[in-house]
Amino acid sequence: MKILGIETSCDETSVAVLTDMRTAPVNLVYSQVDHAKFGGIVPEVASRQQIKKLPPLYLQALREAGIGLDDLVGIAVTMGPGLVGSLLVGVNFAKALAWSSGLALIGINHLEGHIFSNFLASSTLEPPFIALIVSGGHTLLVTVTDYLEYHILGQTRDDAAGEAYDKVSKLLGLGYPGGMIIDNLARKGNPNFHKFPRAFIKDTSFEFSFSGLKTAVALYVKDKGQRFVEDNLADICAAFQEAVVDVLVEKSILAAEHEKIDTIVIAGGVAANSRLREKLAHKAKLAGKKTFYPPPVLCTDNAAMIASAGYCRLARGQRSDFKLNAYPYLPLVE
Ligand code: KG4
Ligand code: ZN
Repeated sequence: MKILGIETSCDETSVAVLTDMRTAPVNLVYSQVDHAKFGGIVPEVASRQQIKKLPPLYLQALREAGIGLDDLVGIAVTMGPGLVGSLLVGVNFAKALAWSSGLALIGINHLEGHIFSNFLASSTLEPPFIALIVSGGHTLLVTVTDYLEYHILGQTRDDAAGEAYDKVSKLLGLGYPGGMIIDNLARKGNPNFHKFPRAFIKDTSFEFSFSGLKTAVALYVKDKGQRFVEDNLADICAAFQEAVVDVLVEKSILAAEHEKIDTIVIAGGVAANSRLREKLAHKAKLAGKKTFYPPPVLCTDNAAMIASAGYCRLARGQRSDFKLNAYPYLPLVE
């Protein structure tokens, strides 16, 4: 049962071919570079790029998989949440393909896709587990009670973790997107150089807040001055990153203990972060919990994760009809 996956929710265009829920022989990702010069994503630019890139990427994916449309049984596409213009490109492309070929169509929630990236990465992972989804647009803790069954424990009240990385990168004069840049610089820095605030860390709730941390870094930069910041960039990055990671690690372990579940997985762009992966593995082990991480290429947006969730839904007989639309705000659980 081969499935085509399409992901166009933001500034990545991606097409994948899956042979089963955990195997993606082809997963092509095109990351738009045009946004770097604007210091953030420009939705109009993103959707125009999606229109340009999706058709050739689709043809390339079939070529690399050595298959034609006839070899597929279904098409899974991200229907939300995301930028509406970008989402519409993928949704309409998938609908047109399904209409003309008679293939089954299934719309997938992007956040569910992120969770499924862990099934692609592991042949043994089974629910129940705790999933920490940390991306540019989302930060939430979810109990995955069974395949396609979710219970949301908590989410961010304001900025997402990745958004905090991107905003801090901008105010430190670094590039966009900021996550990878700060991650790399922080490797050479001292995480104890300065103690930035860790919102709700002592709290027993599963809520997050990162806007105060971003403001704290902005005030610190203003107070210390440009010269000091430039001279201590790696240390400031490491100290900021440690504040983000401490909260994410603490809350994930608390969630696993609260839910009496012994496995924690992470997903989303920030799950590629080296310090988060290292510290969560260490602290979870001390707490007697197992951890699973996708490789970085499956953490950031990709179509293989969408196809994997699609595979699971199609195998259960679920289908979307041609009324399928793009939904900029789409909760994981209705
Ligand atoms: O999942 P993703 O590709 O897109 C969304 O669904 O938002 O996540 C993108 C986010 C960006 O904010 C980016 O800065 C962050 O993930 N990111 C990282 C790292 N790599 C990407 N954050 C921290 N450390 C990284 N290594
Ligand atoms: Zn994402």
